[in-house]
Amino acid sequence: MSHWTTADIPRQDGKLAIVTGANSGIGLHAARELARAGCTVILACRSAEKSNSTRQRIVQEIPTALVEDAVLDLASLSSIRDFATAFLATRRPLDLLINNAGVMALPKRQLTADGFELQIGTNHLGHFALTGLLLPALLAASSARIVTVSSLAHRDGKIRLDDLQWERDYKPWPAYRQSKLANLLFGKELERRLLKAGVPTQSNIVHPGIASTSLFRNGPGSGGGLKNAIFPIVIALLGQSEEQGALPTLYAATAPEAQGGHYYGPDGFREMKGYPVEVKNEAQADDPALAAKLWELSEKLTGVHYDFSAASSRNK
Ligand SMILES: NC(=O)c1ccc[n+]([C@@H]2O[C@H](COP(=O)([O-])OP(=O)(O)OC[C@H]3O[C@@H](n4cnc5c(N)ncnc54)[C@H](OP(=O)(O)O)[C@@H]3O)[C@@H](O)[C@H]2O)c1
Repeated sequence: MSHWTTADIPRQDGKLAIVTGANSGIGLHAARELARAGCTVILACRSAEKSNSTRQRIVQEIPTALVEDAVLDLASLSSIRDFATAFLATRRPLDLLINNAGVMALPKRQLTADGFELQIGTNHLGHFALTGLLLPALLAASSARIVTVSSLAHRDGKIRLDDLQWERDYKPWPAYRQSKLANLLFGKELERRLLKAGVPTQSNIVHPGIASTSLFRNGPGSGGGLKNAIFPIVIALLGQSEEQGALPTLYAATAPEAQGGHYYGPDGFREMKGYPVEVKNEAQADDPALAAKLWELSEKLTGVHYDFSAASSRNK
């Protein structure tokens, strides 16, 4: 059986993508391969320095790459609004939005600028707000795709509707699992709403398996102690490369056969490594009642309300 690789990415000339967390790990490799395929890629990073040096790095490797710098801090609603306002002012249709940036299992409870627990705030609420604000540009493209990066860790996740911010009894891993289950619930609920609006825009979800990226050093690895120091080393031995970890994202973003609402990840042992295929999520990620409650809460917390009306009028 032949595997899907970057060689299978169809040409993306004329398309425009935004990749969050494009300066590192999976986001960097996804951005670079989209650019190699001819896509114009906006590198949305949390500082101008990171975005700028990433652009230079990509252009050095691919001189024809069309890559642009941008500053986006997903842990700040005002940064998200500034980014979206500046982008919408350009009136460019957006073909691809890759909701990739993330933080994992932070040893101590930290907060975003708006007082959200940092993992749910960055991984879910930040991307929820960003996608909602960019919706007009996504609906203006002929068949846009939104790819949201979840994790194997969603499996034991619980959404604490009564304490989403972990004000009680913070635990690093359950807080991460909650945020990654939220990514799946969001991606699937968004697809249902896009379908209802009758537009060709797709929302699909991926996980990278286990890829040896900075996520482990910056998250659990930052906690001190022998166990935390060894953790990134074990991951490096068990997991796959960053490049390979970016394949499900690239598949979901570009493969003609990838479908809205579906979930893609690696095909190897326990989905830890391998090549992209459709994979199964845990049943609770398909619970529309839970997804609707999370959506409502996310709207309330971020103040971002999705407006599909542009889509409805386009399809009349
Ligand atoms: N690696 C894995 O095995 C694995 C497994 C399952 C899921 N994932 C998911 O894959 C995604 C990418 O992670 P990765 O493994 O590639 O880790 P990574 O190398 O640490 O990349 C994470 C990216 O997110 C960015 N980021 C963090 N907080 C941000 C914020 N507030 N605003 C904007 N950008 C922010 C980081 O920017 P800075 O460089 O500024 O920190 C970095 O560019 C995450 O959603 C993660 O949950 C990874």
